[in-house]
Amino acid sequence: MKFVNINSKNIPLLKKRVKAIEKDFVPFRKKRKNNPLEDYLVKDNLHMILVSDKNNFIAYISYDDKYKKGGYIRGIWVDKRYRGKGLATKLYRKAINNLKKKNIKQIIVRTWEKNAPSRLVIEKLGFRKYRTIKNDRIDGDNTVWFKLFL
Ligand SMILES: CC(C)(COP(=O)(O)OP(=O)(O)OC[C@H]1O[C@@H](n2cnc3c(N)ncnc32)[C@H](O)[C@@H]1OP(=O)(O)O)[C@@H](O)C(=O)NCCC(=O)NCCS
Repeated sequence: MKFVNINSKNIPLLKKRVKAIEKDFVPFRKKRKNNPLEDYLVKDNLHMILVSDKNNFIAYISYDDKYKKGGYIRGIWVDKRYRGKGLATKLYRKAINNLKKKNIKQIIVRTWEKNAPSRLVIEKLGFRKYRTIKNDRIDGDNTVWFKLFL
């Protein structure tokens, strides 16, 4: 398994998986704009770590190191076949360590309330829930926001 930062060569590989990735997320009621992947190459604040296995792209974490006064985990995804093996936890730890090195004092992340695996990982790493937005997703689920103080 290889961990690499996003670059111009692996973007096409990532784009091939976008449909599979998107269907694993519960969309918001109000459509939100996502940064195009190319932004990760040119914007200093945006970062993405990709994981590949035998030349297949299998996971990512993306984060912002200048979100308001701290860090923001923008997205995380692990291919179904690789879940439950601690990969998301490992990716979170890498992102948190990188943010620590930038002297960041707090990190936020959001997920939907019924996303048990996502909440489990977030809470296990010490994030605490600070905000709930009711009925924020198209299936009626709530969005929950978590914060970690470093
Ligand atoms: C959320 C996600 C990234 C977790 O990835 P992962 O590599 O499987 O995560 P980990 O293996 O580090 O940890 C998952 C934990 O959830 C647990 N888990 C898995 N399925 C579960 C379920 N249905 N109910 C409760 N717990 C569950 C696992 O046992 C594990 O806990 P443990 O370490 O105590 O055993 C992955 O499920 C995913 O990509 N989901 C779709 C996209 C998504 O939801 N992204 C986050 C949205 S903000």
